[in-house]
Amino acid sequence: MPPLSNLSARDVETLVHPYVNLARFRETGPLVIERGQGVYVYDSDGKPYIEGMAGLWCTALGYGNEELVDAAAAQMRKLSFAHLFTGRSHDPAIELAEKLKEIAPVPISKVFFCNSGSEANDTQVKLVWYLNNALDRPKKKKIVSRMKAYHGVTVVAASLTGLPGNHRDFDLPLPGFLHTACPHHYRFAQAGESEEDFATRLAAELDALIVREGPDTVAAFIAEPVMGAGGVIVPPKTYFEKIMPVCARHDVFMISDEVICGFGRLGTTFGCEILNFAPHSISIAKALSSAYLPIAGVMIPETMYQALLAESKKIGVFGHGFTYGGHPVAAAVALKAIEIYARDRIFAKSAERAPQFQARLKALGEHPLVGEARGLGLIGGVELVADKTGKRSFDPQHGVGARTVQFAEAEGLIVRSVLGDVLTLCPPLIISPAEIDDMFDRLARALDKTLDWVRRERLAQT
Ligand SMILES: Cc1ncc(COP(=O)(O)O)c(C=O)c1O
Repeated sequence: MPPLSNLSARDVETLVHPYVNLARFRETGPLVIERGQGVYVYDSDGKPYIEGMAGLWCTALGYGNEELVDAAAAQMRKLSFAHLFTGRSHDPAIELAEKLKEIAPVPISKVFFCNSGSEANDTQVKLVWYLNNALDRPKKKKIVSRMKAYHGVTVVAASLTGLPGNHRDFDLPLPGFLHTACPHHYRFAQAGESEEDFATRLAAELDALIVREGPDTVAAFIAEPVMGAGGVIVPPKTYFEKIMPVCARHDVFMISDEVICGFGRLGTTFGCEILNFAPHSISIAKALSSAYLPIAGVMIPETMYQALLAESKKIGVFGHGFTYGGHPVAAAVALKAIEIYARDRIFAKSAERAPQFQARLKALGEHPLVGEARGLGLIGGVELVADKTGKRSFDPQHGVGARTVQFAEAEGLIVRSVLGDVLTLCPPLIISPAEIDDMFDRLARALDKTLDWVRRERLAQT
């Protein structure tokens, strides 16, 4: 290993980084990003990269958007902080909540603001518990999510998450958090099972789980429209059409986690619109402000609001809230982002670019290392396998996905590798057709280099 540069060495001695092997990281050090413009970021040596992950699935309007910068500066000058506790308020939060109600895909009564996707999902669970206490259903508290789901990392959100790395040795999930099957046809369908039949079976399994646990104990079901960090998993055809009646039958509250899919990622304003389901409530974050500042929210229906109203009247207080929830500067930036999304037809453009993005993505499926290339809208996953016909994964110890990420970085492209050597792509929505082609050309070269390396190391049957 070459010695770490000064900045890298300082990093290693000062920071704990999320989602690395902390021991290995001490040798490799970080990739230090210094600035960004459009869909490009530049490292501390000035090398440009296409940000193929929009940061962490979030910088929808790319980097260096002066309108967002100006909105933040103006609000900071006017009122740098105000909160929503104890009956206080400010106009950016009020205006943003009004705007969100206007664009919501289902009837929404109120918005509760927080700072991260994890806080939004934590809040969802607390509100559901509060709701069922208000409705005098004290046993109806269990929450169902799915294996490979990603809902965040706070204690409750990590319990919802269905990935082993978020549970192991953190003593999670908490009791009362259940995980039903992952809707990934390529991996989990039975031989010869159509997408529709797979969806039917998954709905039956959810039904059986709820019945087994007792419908009077199951409060809510939470799902991402397309699973992101679990490996970009697009549900099989008819999945939500079949899942929703199961929830309805057992009076199970349905939460759509739109932290990635919200704000145009799939070509519609919200992911549930293209996947054809109507949740009770919605979690939002990330592209809400195009990630220029942290802000997140829970979009609450009237029925739930009425229950919160009744319960807080009884108790005397609604005892939940974050200091920075609805921060005026973040809210002003989110308002500006939503204004730009509408004015510049960003979601419509995302839908217009999706066929090109998906065609280039699916073409990677022909590569000898790729088991499945999948996606929807402007999000994609490329699953690397050691054996294409048998769908055999690589030994995780070999770090094949991580190696491809390194080759991609050498090509000037940032992608991510998640569990199971799945490369994920989620570029800023402002990406142009030429940049989409450039991005996939770079990724194809990185895959070729990975293939050479895999052959040299004799890691696969290719
Ligand atoms: C679908 C989904 N929900 C929740 C979260 C958690 O958000 P945060 O990291 O802001 O807590 C993420 C983060 O990637 C996510 O993808």
